[in-house]
Amino acid sequence: INDGSSLESLQVVADPSLEKRDLTFGSAVEVQGKLVKSPHRMQNMELQAETIRVVGPCDIWSFPLKMKERHPLEYVRQFPHLRCRSNTLGALLRIRSEATAGIHSFFQDNGYVHIHTPIITSNDCEGAGELFQIGESAEKTHFFSVPAFLTVSGQLHLEVMAGAFTHVFTFGPTFRAENSQSRRHLAEFYMVEAELSFTESLQDIMQVMEDLFKTVTSTVLSKCPHDVELFHKYIAPAQKGRLEQILKHKFMIISYSEAVEILKQAPQTFTFKPEWGCDLQTEHEKYLVKHCGEVPVFVVNYPYDLKPFYMRDNEDGPQHTVAAVDLLVPGVGELCGGSLREERLPFLKSRLQRYLDLRKFGSVPHGGFGMGFERYLQYILGVDNIKDVIPFPRFSHSCLL
Ligand code: 4AD
Ligand code: MG
Repeated sequence: INDGSSLESLQVVADPSLEKRDLTFGSAVEVQGKLVKSPHRMQNMELQAETIRVVGPCDIWSFPLKMKERHPLEYVRQFPHLRCRSNTLGALLRIRSEATAGIHSFFQDNGYVHIHTPIITSNDCEGAGELFQIGESAEKTHFFSVPAFLTVSGQLHLEVMAGAFTHVFTFGPTFRAENSQSRRHLAEFYMVEAELSFTESLQDIMQVMEDLFKTVTSTVLSKCPHDVELFHKYIAPAQKGRLEQILKHKFMIISYSEAVEILKQAPQTFTFKPEWGCDLQTEHEKYLVKHCGEVPVFVVNYPYDLKPFYMRDNEDGPQHTVAAVDLLVPGVGELCGGSLREERLPFLKSRLQRYLDLRKFGSVPHGGFGMGFERYLQYILGVDNIKDVIPFPRFSHSCLL
């Protein structure tokens, strides 16, 4: 029997007289008996049954999960209501729960105030137009006749709060209407976001990203060793022991301009030719991470024209950049995106009115970042497809259950 608390099952030993016809794999049972030391090497304890009650029988012939079988992740994905009972999803969801607690502890222990940023919003923080509008069509808005959208990021609300509480964070669902079938995009994903006031250097933002990653990963490794081992044994053998090594070393930092030079000198050809001013594509990120030795790497100072309005102008040239940073990791690519924010009023004139107000009434240098929680789990566990690290995946043209 297994109650979901760990990968381990508890062996129940029963006299044949207790045998029930509907006692099959997958059924819900209540067993009473004596917990005794087990004579078997593989288990400490076993339960000597005195009574067995089948609370909910299971139709074994149509139950899609089979006993002692390692089902492929794509197979169990077809059963969103049952896959949490497979070993892999069970392990994943326990790890997800510990990582969630670890993220909250990390920020609370470091003096951050947790803010519930809204799900329904009127802003498009990233300005990429990837919004899900609330309502049936663009003409007919259903949020009490005002335009409203599902949030793409809590950043702008966090910036408001950072002006009062100095260090703030949020961790909730975010939504992107990206019509993407990729293995690293979801339409609904969880994002951890932090915002720090009195921050004048990207270095400070990178330090928080790195500390967050290392602290949460150490927590997961120590709290769920068996669950993590399952992934590193059966799903991503190359990942075994790698995380422990990565936790010991400082993450690498390269500039966007250096990254473009590395890509230009690469012996391989890319589908998208690397050029200063162009966005880094997945194939580029993959190559950069490989070039750096398959470790996490920060890329800093991106072209001004590539990034959203709120990023801080580096006032350099002729290659004009902003103080932006992305953290790239092996197998996944971009895990975190962040920046210093443009806190100087003249630089923001003719932009968003309330954003300008924030600069008029006690503006301070600040910055922050967001980390995709599913991409984090994907990376540490070596899971190929992002759909396998969230209980109920939503992606283009799919919303099962
Ligand atoms: O780089 P992004 O778009 O940054 C922001 O939204 C900032 N406003 C965050 C901030 O500074 N407070 O998204 C942040 C991270 C990405 O690095 C990626 O890990 C994840 O969110 N992400 C996605 N994860 C899954 N599916 C998607 N469609 C994602 N889009 C972004
Ligand atoms: Mg980004």
